[in-house]
Amino acid sequence: MKTFYIETFGCQMNAHDSEKVVGTLLEKGYQQVAGPEDAELVLYNTCSIRDKAEQKVFHRLQQFKHAAKNSKKTFGVLGCVAQQEGERIFERAPHVSLVAGSASYTKLPELLIQLEAGNRRVTGLSLDTNETFDTPFTRRDNPHRAYLTIIEGCDKACAYCVVPFTRGPERSRTSESVLREAHSLAETGYTEVQLLGQNVNSYRDPSPAGWDFARLLAATGNVAGIRRVRFTTSHPRDFGRGIVDAIDEHPALCNHVHLPVQSGSSAVLARMQRLYTRDDYMRRIEWMKNSRRDIAITTDIIVGFPGETEADFAETVDLIDQVEYDSMFIFKYSKRPNTPALAYEDHIPEEEKTRRFLILQERQRSIQMRRNGAYVGKTEEVHVEGYNLATGQWIGRTSQNKTLNFHDMELPAPAEGRTLTGQYLDVLVTRAGPNSLAGQRAGSSSIHSRMQ
Ligand code: SAH
Ligand code: SF4
Ligand code: F3S
Repeated sequence: MKTFYIETFGCQMNAHDSEKVVGTLLEKGYQQVAGPEDAELVLYNTCSIRDKAEQKVFHRLQQFKHAAKNSKKTFGVLGCVAQQEGERIFERAPHVSLVAGSASYTKLPELLIQLEAGNRRVTGLSLDTNETFDTPFTRRDNPHRAYLTIIEGCDKACAYCVVPFTRGPERSRTSESVLREAHSLAETGYTEVQLLGQNVNSYRDPSPAGWDFARLLAATGNVAGIRRVRFTTSHPRDFGRGIVDAIDEHPALCNHVHLPVQSGSSAVLARMQRLYTRDDYMRRIEWMKNSRRDIAITTDIIVGFPGETEADFAETVDLIDQVEYDSMFIFKYSKRPNTPALAYEDHIPEEEKTRRFLILQERQRSIQMRRNGAYVGKTEEVHVEGYNLATGQWIGRTSQNKTLNFHDMELPAPAEGRTLTGQYLDVLVTRAGPNSLAGQRAGSSSIHSRMQ
């Protein structure tokens, strides 16, 4: 039996792609091992979104450069760096034998046969595929929350972003195929699904039913046995009011929306080619703030985009004060190959990017402190994800995607096969920090931990 090891970098799409690769390899009779040392086939599923992410895989490969000469190990680079760099990877790391982009995984079984036949330069780099990687062999990592791809690729052309090059054009999956997988996940015991796509709300059912994203979302929320539905990522331009209406009407749809704004300045947004203005974005925020449900809103921001002035940056600071996000990812602009922004003038010095990054981070920290503080004294339903041995607390997640760690007097820790993991429980929030909440299982006999 052949052994393999896989390490994954990047976003949830990549994590899910790896689950599909693992499923396919297991089906082909390979055995997964925990470290690269013991593996005959070593795979890196890579991310290229920022330069640092891209460098990671070359560091990893470097570690094996000499050892590889004397061993029978086969190295493969998958994912976004593979797609972006293609055969150049063989030059940068000559011990690599397989380079396959994320749109080529349907061909993985064929590529494996070529590898097994001793071929030292195997590639799968085609992007002109209409197929999505729809395989029955997915081996999901998480037994409670399942990723479910609804759309692949991206048809936008944000001036800073490699994804349209690395993931190819948008391909939506039929609603029938999505719902079939959702039903089968429910049958195997999953209660939570996360719909995935670079732009989930650009979803357009290719079958005659022609559903839009809101319709698909609502239908997924109606699948018997599914208690929670999440979705990432939404693009503001295609974010219709129907999505907020669906969340209002279907309790199974989580009250959390990740809506990356990137900048609070319409001038910067135009240069980023984001296809919306600050006002367009704020209108969508208003829809959510006026929802019957308390929708948590999170975002991504890029600081130091070429030409971002102090006044542009001040508009971003003002926007985050207005929206009061529940959480955000802040990124320093990173130059990426092939992207239009590379040729822009007025690149911002690294120290200035860092200064802006720290200002936003500090500001957002106090916003999160305040927002999370408002939950103290409230009871929230959590889906229990596990147990933290170090803190002696159960780890739960609220519908709003907040981590809520809690004590349970009846079952303080997993014991004799008993666990709370996978259950939905009410938890009284007793403390709040900027990044998480803490509490006590509601209805359990003691709340002494309240002041701890
Ligand atoms: N499709 C999603 C996000 C994809 S990438 C969307 O359009 O919102 C995730 C995040 O990485 C982006 O939202 C952006 O904030 C960040 N990002 C992408 N390219 C980047 C670059 N060149 N430099 C810094 N951050 C970048
Ligand atoms: Fe990148 Fe823009 Fe597409 Fe998002 S919408 S993946 S940021 S090009
Ligand atoms: Fe990275 Fe590719 Fe995802 S570049 S963020 S792994 S789509």
